[in-house]
Amino acid sequence: MINKQVFIQRRKKVFDQMPTNSLAIIPSAMEHSRNYWALYDYHQNSDFYYLTGFKEPESVAVLIKGKTSCEFILFNRPRDAAQEQWVGYRAGQVGAVDAFGADQSYSISELDEKMQSFLQNKNSLYYAYGRYPHFDCKVNRWLDDLRSLIRTGVRIPGEIHNLDDIVHEMRLIKDDAEIELMKRAAEITAQGQLKAMRVCRPCMYEYELAAELAYEFQKRGAQDFAFASIVGGGKNACVLHYPDNADQLKDGNLVLVDAGCEYKYYCGDVTRTFPINGKFSPEQRAIYELVLKAQLAIIEQIKPGNTWRHGEETAIKIITEGLCQLGILQGDVSELIKKQAYKRFYMHHFGHWLGLDGHDVGSYKAGDKWRTLEAGMLLTVEPGVYISVDMEGVDEKWHGIGVRIEDDLLITSDGNQVLTGRVPKNIEEIEKIMEK
Ligand code: GLY
Ligand code: MN
Ligand code: MN
Repeated sequence: MINKQVFIQRRKKVFDQMPTNSLAIIPSAMEHSRNYWALYDYHQNSDFYYLTGFKEPESVAVLIKGKTSCEFILFNRPRDAAQEQWVGYRAGQVGAVDAFGADQSYSISELDEKMQSFLQNKNSLYYAYGRYPHFDCKVNRWLDDLRSLIRTGVRIPGEIHNLDDIVHEMRLIKDDAEIELMKRAAEITAQGQLKAMRVCRPCMYEYELAAELAYEFQKRGAQDFAFASIVGGGKNACVLHYPDNADQLKDGNLVLVDAGCEYKYYCGDVTRTFPINGKFSPEQRAIYELVLKAQLAIIEQIKPGNTWRHGEETAIKIITEGLCQLGILQGDVSELIKKQAYKRFYMHHFGHWLGLDGHDVGSYKAGDKWRTLEAGMLLTVEPGVYISVDMEGVDEKWHGIGVRIEDDLLITSDGNQVLTGRVPKNIEEIEKIMEK
């Protein structure tokens, strides 16, 4: 579990970037109910969790930077014996102060009244307008109510800033506590993938492999998923985010497994593609080797000083060249790149930031330039080639082959560390592990 001091340090970093006489507001995520008593799984808003460590719904964090001091105020649910007996423990106001380091804590029922006074006469408000539509209405109402007091001399914040600009930039560079949890999330995800590879047999159903992943994740302490597991056999592997996991796995086809656990709020995200019967056919082997070549070459480019674009250009070049060598694309490689001919086969980006969210926050560009990679960033590298069953102009022998290979990487001071290397990705290793 992340220590209270780490959250204090994070809030301090936010305060350091706020001017005097300003205030920041971060609401918790909403609960969603399926019917009158059953709730969908609750997941805290990642920014809120990042700054507070607090997992309960119906909470609001307020950071106030005054002339001489900074205060963290947490509005949360009061203790309630009856409610706690039905739906679980609450920290209450005492817990908010003692366990979560709040300077003050109030019942969430006092929010409207207190915010009126907190917002009065502040110069700047930091809030992520547009991200919490249910909450935007509240903030607007508080500001409107204050406007009506203008003749009493009350001022409303003249400047409104997007809090995301500060918090998302911080979240992009992982601190030591986060790196430790990300390593564990990567390791558990890798263990799940390894199990799926080991048990896969023709005639199993896609959901059976998904169940093996879920079991491995949960028994290792990862109680959640970073996203719904994708298990696509044969042509289903060509649907990038195939959602059904319902078909039978056929002898002779590949299966693409893209899954990630969520461990203590941090996400893993790994894809492996392997032959359902344990042996690659020549066509599957050719496409697989091309994707692996691209993946290894991109990984070489992931280091401080390079930009995001280095990886993308590497992927595009290798995949276009490879498709030409296999006769799937015809023409001059640089012309084909210019015309984006690869996009029929490789239509996504090579990866994304990874962290508290599967597709994590943080900008990919700084101004109009691709941003430079830095130590402490975490990302996926996941090129793919997908040839759908009805793709025109491509020899039928390639139809229905979809391959993606994805690993999680931590950028270090002199390169990168692949956190999910435990799951084999060389053909020989995969075939060996799958030997029946
Ligand atoms: N499963 C989505 C992704 O790998 O980005
Ligand atoms: Mn993935
Ligand atoms: Mn991914």
